[in-house]
Amino acid sequence: MGMFRVKVSEILEETDHIKSFKLVRADGKGFDPYLAGAHIDIVGPTNVVRQYSLCCPPYDLDAYLVAVKRETESRGGSAALHDQLDIGSELEVSAPRNLMQVAETGDRHVLVAAGIGVTPMISMAYQLEREGRSFELHYFARSRELAAFTELLEERCGFAEKVRFHFGIPRDEQPAVLQEILTGLTGGSHVYTCGPEGFMERVLFLAGPVVGEENVHIEHFQAGELADTSGDTGFEVELDSGEVFEIPADRSIVEVLQENGVPVDTSCKEGICGTCVMGVLEGEPEHRDNCLSASEKRANDQIATCVSRARSARLILEPF
Ligand code: FES
Repeated sequence: MGMFRVKVSEILEETDHIKSFKLVRADGKGFDPYLAGAHIDIVGPTNVVRQYSLCCPPYDLDAYLVAVKRETESRGGSAALHDQLDIGSELEVSAPRNLMQVAETGDRHVLVAAGIGVTPMISMAYQLEREGRSFELHYFARSRELAAFTELLEERCGFAEKVRFHFGIPRDEQPAVLQEILTGLTGGSHVYTCGPEGFMERVLFLAGPVVGEENVHIEHFQAGELADTSGDTGFEVELDSGEVFEIPADRSIVEVLQENGVPVDTSCKEGICGTCVMGVLEGEPEHRDNCLSASEKRANDQIATCVSRARSARLILEPF
């Protein structure tokens, strides 16, 4: 994976627990073009790699903007970014990657975010606004104080009239609010969501029958429920080069390939970032990731090799 160095040029305390970091290239150049909704890997001061959505206008290539929430049960990463970065600190980041992006067609685009999940939605809203397409951004948070970017969204973004805040809505009242948001959408509309898993499941449950499951776009940034691995068995992986590898019951595909010198990029190793995805030429994967969409999983022509396994005795894979 190509990595390059960036420098922190601005740090803002968005809330008590969320800081935003503006990053510029350390070599003073501009960034390459990317698509709205992209995320980057950031190698933190403690060498922990985490994914953060870009929440800046995707057409502004002078700087990246990311928001980092200090996780109470941080598995490493967010606390170090909060505590150890100053203006001028340098970091390594990857090029942007998209697990979610604005659909090329669609009569309406409804962005539904909860908490820190608002970050990719802001970037997508910038793009939709610039292209003059019909959209709304709905932002759920427990309170105004806990919501990042309120000032940006209310005053500076340029699309404030398309932003609706939903503060302090109890969980059992969210379905009614979501139903209202979905009113008037058609099979040609698209719904995008990012937030806690339970929230995104509610959005999918309610929006799927309205716009079609394929038109509900979900951005995962946490691994889902751990799969039950007690019944796992071994299987074979053949590469398009013809090499064959045994994948034992207790090892992942990517572990075995890397151990044998096959270059496969990885980042999260939890099935959420999509870095390790390979193409499937033959065989049936058992998908355990949160990065491929429902339709991509049904197509069975890609596999997240860090977590997913095989239903067939052999998979034939190619670099993706
Ligand atoms: S390394 Fe992130 S999905 Fe596999």
